[in-house]
Amino acid sequence: KRLAILLSGRGSNMVALVKAVQQGELHGLAEIAVVFSNKPDAPGLATAAELGCSTASLASQGLKRPEYDAEVVKLLQTYQPDYVVLAGYMRILSPVFIQAFAGRILNIHPADTHQHQGLHAYEWAFNNRLSETKITVHMVDEGLDTGPILAQRTVDLRGADTLSEVERRGLLVEHELYANTLVRLLQGQLKIES
Ligand code: GRF
Repeated sequence: KRLAILLSGRGSNMVALVKAVQQGELHGLAEIAVVFSNKPDAPGLATAAELGCSTASLASQGLKRPEYDAEVVKLLQTYQPDYVVLAGYMRILSPVFIQAFAGRILNIHPADTHQHQGLHAYEWAFNNRLSETKITVHMVDEGLDTGPILAQRTVDLRGADTLSEVERRGLLVEHELYANTLVRLLQGQLKIES
């Protein structure tokens, strides 16, 4: 299956997925159709190119959200993705985007989506001194972090006394969980509620 990975920043989840495709558990199951960013200068885009991926970007300045998303849909469709994999893509998707790839958009969220939606999930876990938090991989629907959950994994936060330690532990889990969830999805082992 062909994956389009969308990012806006650093791209550590993208790297984990590309490595899983190139030499890990997604090898033979998935290929990277394109890595796309709404930020032409996103560090993750340069990293993706270094890893040998096709890359594309489109700046959103001056376009209203639905207009921009319609352009992105057109661009992505030229790469014929089976799944759109959000990996730190910092934009809320409009219905035109969701409908174009209905049931085929995944996101990773660094919290339990029932407990915390939106930005700053690690800060939230840290500031509330949680002893554990969860990473969630879910299907994307028209709400913010509301779609059906595909997988969750717990992050042990005991003794994590800085925000960067919380993030470090969380990202380790993110990187494993995202690839592993895609494996299970592509092997037909996950049932998606709709
Ligand atoms: C991750 O924490 C992800 O869960 C969230 O945004 C962050 C992206 O990090 N949606 P990276 O760009 O994958 O390193």
